[in-house]
Amino acid sequence: MWKKWFSKKDNQEQTSYNNIDSARIPKHVAIIMDGNGRWAQKRGFPRTLGHRAGAETLREVVKASAEIGIQVLTAYAFSTENWRRPDEEVSLLMSLLADYLDNEIAELEQNNVQIRFIGKIDELAPTLQKKIEKAQAQTAHNTGLILNLAVNYGGRTEILRAVKIISEQVLNKELELQDINESTIEENLYTVNLPAPDLLIRPSGDFRISNFLLWQMAYTEFWFTEINWPDFKPEHLVQAIYEFQQRERRFGGIKNTKKR
Ligand code: FPP
Repeated sequence: MWKKWFSKKDNQEQTSYNNIDSARIPKHVAIIMDGNGRWAQKRGFPRTLGHRAGAETLREVVKASAEIGIQVLTAYAFSTENWRRPDEEVSLLMSLLADYLDNEIAELEQNNVQIRFIGKIDELAPTLQKKIEKAQAQTAHNTGLILNLAVNYGGRTEILRAVKIISEQVLNKELELQDINESTIEENLYTVNLPAPDLLIRPSGDFRISNFLLWQMAYTEFWFTEINWPDFKPEHLVQAIYEFQQRERRFGGIKNTKKR
């Protein structure tokens, strides 16, 4: 099934990618959609055009992820720090998101995709919040890929929020201090009930985590590429999955040892 994405690759590479083990597809893939600005600047375009092209890439990657059988795709669309960008860029990003919700729901439905949002959604414009609620409700019954969009999201903020919820429960005597464990934190993150990401993809040549899914990525495998996000294609997703499958994940243990 991967072949169609590799028209320009040589035979040897195609063979490798055709050897992807369908039984070991990462359940959860996280993506930092980076490099839109650089992509645009290289071509003499305004940065905003890079974001438009980036939204187009997201469409393609969502479709490919559903086809490949990934269960959860979490894409970083706007961080709690992105408000520091020029007003014009922030407005464009918000309107791209609104357009995505207006135009893509039918296609998401068709591909059995459930859309969810993580981040401080209550700080977004009320009209955008309404579109988000509607899109979530409209696709809630879909059983295929979960597309998790991180908007106004920050990993530290997410952990802080969990700490506050848990502290309140302790103060209200609904929870004993000694009963707090890792699951208590996990149950109070935005990603509750989702598996931790198996694979993080970061395009555009930066090697940072950028406040993304800090708790959840404790044992995630990282895959980096120089390609800017607007140039990212389904074939790169397949390449990342192939390389992920060559890695040995030990989760802090050593090979071939029994779990405690
Ligand atoms: C980082 O690239 C990218 C962002 C801050 C925004 C990502 C948004 C999109 C891909 C499109 C909108 C999303 C949806 C859901 C429609 P950058 O601008 O930091 O690039 P640079 O590092 O090259 O400047």
